Parts: sequence; structure tokens; C-alpha cells
Amino acid sequence: MIVESLPVHARLDQPLKLACGLVLENRLAKAAMTECVADPRTNQPSERHDRLYARWGRGGLGLSITGNVMVDRRYLERTTNVVIDARTDRVALRRWADAAQATGTPTLVQINHPGRQCSVFVTRRPVAPSPVKVDVLGSFATPRALEDHEIDALATRYAEVAGDVVEAGFSGVQIHAAHGYLASQFLSPRTNLRDDRWGGSLENRARFLVEAVRRTRARIGSSVALAVKLNSADFQRGGFEEDDALQVARWLEAEGIDLLEVSGGNYESPALMGIVDERAESTKKREAYFLEFALKVRREVRTPLMLTGGLRSAEVMRSIVADRSVDVIGLARPLALEPDLPRGILSGQIERSAMKPPRTGWKSVDAMIEAGWYGVQIARMADGKEPDPSIGRWRALTSYLGDESVHAVQRAFASP
Ligand SMILES: Cc1cc2nc3c(=O)[nH]c(=O)nc-3n(C[C@H](O)[C@H](O)[C@H](O)COP(=O)(O)O)c2cc1C
Repeated sequence: MIVESLPVHARLDQPLKLACGLVLENRLAKAAMTECVADPRTNQPSERHDRLYARWGRGGLGLSITGNVMVDRRYLERTTNVVIDARTDRVALRRWADAAQATGTPTLVQINHPGRQCSVFVTRRPVAPSPVKVDVLGSFATPRALEDHEIDALATRYAEVAGDVVEAGFSGVQIHAAHGYLASQFLSPRTNLRDDRWGGSLENRARFLVEAVRRTRARIGSSVALAVKLNSADFQRGGFEEDDALQVARWLEAEGIDLLEVSGGNYESPALMGIVDERAESTKKREAYFLEFALKVRREVRTPLMLTGGLRSAEVMRSIVADRSVDVIGLARPLALEPDLPRGILSGQIERSAMKPPRTGWKSVDAMIEAGWYGVQIARMADGKEPDPSIGRWRALTSYLGDESVHAVQRAFASP
């Protein structure tokens, strides 16, 4: 199906109404960034989350998406993730929703399971579709293949978590099916070697995501926002490719999701950060890493599109929303340093994010330095301080690696 009846023009400051009825006051969204500010012994939302999201909420965003929250406390992306389960403090969860949305910024909670990309500081026995280890600096353990009944239960867990956060007052959820985490592992033939109903054909590989989406919708109803973050591709030979992603986007449209965010890459190939191999060299030259793929989706799928990755100048943001290439601009790293950027762009006072990422040229290390550097800025805001652009790359790397090991020790000595 080719979409023909799109309005011809849109502006960054123009509201967008999603199918569920949620209205975004403008087209600038905060993309998910793992906050790493929960206590590693409890993994509860805390005042640090409240302060952080209140700070972002004051920056003029049309939509905010939380960092990934975990569905199972045995398997975390970082030791300091928030976990939503029976032990979650409902009062603290509600406080977080209230703080994030105090200025009227609708906030979605990103739901995730790391699968094989589970921190080695959390467990040496992660789970995944198949026993395929992450090949990054030897820092990940070989996962155990999930049983059929475990996969089925996990799809339901996503829906239960969605129900809990919506009950707490969040405006909706985003299911994380990008960046090589569990749902993305199911989609990729490199990491999903199964020959049962969860593997093999694209339809089977997409079953976990489609089931999670379907069950989530059934749990939260049609008047609450349900978004998905999807990879355009893994940017790896034999991985999840654009044609597959396009078909998955069609299936997600059929499931009636409200917003599709487009990204790409994973830990082994961090295209999401603009770090790509030669095959994908052309994406590096552009400001919007995944625009080409978004345009392909746009031609065939009616679901509102959010594009994230590399967007820095108001001019590019304005033009791709104006010509209806995409509906929403996703910003991550710039907001770790410049929480008021959306207001500045909308008012015409800021033309470009001033952010300058520290890099070494070694892609795996750069991904960690970047994550650490932005992590330090995020932690500052969680502590009520403003970001500090003078933080150096080695401080960032030691923060990335060192904090995780300290937190792992704290976790090990915490009472269950
Ligand atoms: C510190 C940090 C944490 C991130 N955590 C998440 C996350 O929890 N979930 C997610 O989908 N993406 C996460 N990302 C990726 C961003 O959402 C985004 O896709 C990527 O940074 C590219 O957008 P940007 O160029 O605007 O930063 C993270 C990025 C950074 C820098």
C-alpha cells in the first residue's frame, strides 16, 4: 500500500495527535537514554529519576521517552536500571510519572530485556533466542537459549510492565525492538538460530515482537500510547536487513501502534551512535543516520514516524518535518548536555546543538566513552546539577567501566 493522502506541510512547533488520542505539543522528542541512576541494590525509581525527568520536562519537549526499564531483575542492561516487577515501589513509580509530566510533557516508558547484551556484572548466564555470544572485547557471556514457554511468558511480561507504568500515570510505553536487545535479537538471523515458531522465517523471527505488542495493546487499551523502536538494519553481514525491517513496520502498522521510532545497529555495530562500517559509510556523512530508511517506510506505512540518530541542526529538523519525511525528531545525546535545546530550537534562538562527542576512532571503545560521557551528564542532572561539557573522555570511560563494577559489588552484597 502506498500512502498518498499525507498533508503536504508540517512545522516543528505544530502539535501531533497520535491515533490513541495523545497530543504532542511539538515535534521534538527525547529519545530513550538509559539513566543508570537507580540504586543497584533495589533498582527502584527514585528522587534522582524525578529530578532528571523534571529537568528534561522544563526544556520544551513535545514527548519524552524514558531510558530502558527492565522486565526481569535477573537480567539487566546495566546494574542501575529501573526494574518493574512485583517488588517495584508503586508510590515511587507514580512520583516519577508526575515529575516527568509536571510541565505537560507526555512521557512513555521504554520497556526492554537485554537478552545476550546483558551486563556481565549482572549475570554470567544471560538468556537469548540462541547461544550466540556478543563479540565485544570479551565482555559478554554466552547466553542460554530460552525455552518456548519462557519466550511466551516474556511477551506477557512486557504487557504486564506496560500495565503497571500506565497505571502509575505515564502516557504510554515504547517497546524496545532496536539496538540488539532481546526483541531485536529475535529479529536477526545472526542471533536467532531457532527452528521453532520463534525462529527461521521473518514471520517467526518477528513473532516475539508482534506478540509483545499485541498483548501490550490488549493490556493498556487503545487510548494509551504504544510505540516501538525498530532497527532499520543491524549493519552486519547476514543480520536484520532493511527489507525485513520494512515488512516488520507493515506488521506493526497492522497491530495499530501509535508511533514507530527508527534507529539501527547494536553493541557489535554501533550505527545508532553514527559509528558504522564501510558498508554503511554513506549514513555517516548525513546528519540523520537513518533518514533513507525512514523515507522507505513513509512511502508504505501510515504509522507516525520518529527518526532518531545524529540530528543536530534546526535546519535539517525543520526540513524533514516540513516535507513530511518524518513526524517527530528524536534527540538523545544533545539532551544530555543541553536539556533546553528543544525550547531554543522552537523559539529560533538555537540553530544547532553545540555537542561535541569525544572519540578515539576505535569503535567499541568510542561507544563506551560516549555512553560514559553522557552518563556522567545525566547523573549530574539527576543530582540537581547542570551538565558540564568539560568532562574528559577518560573520566567518561572509567565512569562507564568503573561504576558498573562498584555497583556489581553493591548488588552482590544486597539482601535479596
Ligand atoms: C547514554 C545513552 C544511553 C542510551 N540508552 C538508550 C536506551 O535506554 N534505549 C534506547 O532505545 N536507546 C538508547 N540510547 C540510544 C539513543 O536513544 C539514540 O538512539 C542514539 O543516541 C542516537 O541518537 P542521538 O544522535 O540523538 O544521540 C542511548 C544513548 C546514549 C548516548
